[in-house]
Amino acid sequence: MERLQKVIANLGYCSRRKAEELIKDGKVLVNGNIVTELGTKVKNSDTIEVEGNILDNNKNYEYYILNKPRGVVTTTNDEHGRKTVIDLIDTSTRIYPIGRLDYDTTGLLLLTNDGELANKLMHPSFKIDKTYIAKIEGIISPISIKKLRSGVVIDGYKTRSARVKVKSIDKKTNKSIVEITISEGKNHQVKKMFEAVGHQVLKLKREKYAIFDIKDLKVGEYRKLTFKEVSILYSLVK
Ligand code: URA
Repeated sequence: MERLQKVIANLGYCSRRKAEELIKDGKVLVNGNIVTELGTKVKNSDTIEVEGNILDNNKNYEYYILNKPRGVVTTTNDEHGRKTVIDLIDTSTRIYPIGRLDYDTTGLLLLTNDGELANKLMHPSFKIDKTYIAKIEGIISPISIKKLRSGVVIDGYKTRSARVKVKSIDKKTNKSIVEITISEGKNHQVKKMFEAVGHQVLKLKREKYAIFDIKDLKVGEYRKLTFKEVSILYSLVK
């Protein structure tokens, strides 16, 4: 038996203090009944509802957001013994990445052991936006930007429309920085899209995944997603 506010906080819904406020305000139900008593103890089998959200305290799902460094593979086990993203996260649970980033790509990667959610998020039909910043060789032309936006053919497949924004152009070094948002996730898609319009990608970083970003995480850092963030992920694949 644990105190209600502690259980709500431990499930990642909000801080313990905020949970206390919600309890006092009558926003928390235990087994369908409003509970306003702060010291109320609950057991694992009790159903807790906060502001209309049912908190599932029986499942042992974990959800992480990582700022992936360069030189780490996104598989769970590398045949060449290279470091994997799983090695970076301190957990005894068998988690795996939602989608892939190349060995030399940095940035936002979600990981979980919630297979059903992960499979849905990776399915192209849900069209989750992923935003990358690419440093490319050469000066990108308006024609190439237009082609990238409307779709280019890679491996015999025409990519869906993409959002493309030029961030900067350096004529001295002959390089461009381009932001590109795609809603699919074919293997090496961004690199191949730029190749299709004649540019080699020199550096690639994923900055956003749906509404998530990694502004609060340094390269190599990670944190658990909050209950609200997990709810948002679920709402994306409804
Ligand atoms: N596209 C790529 O080419 N590489 C990545 O790592 C991600 C998207």
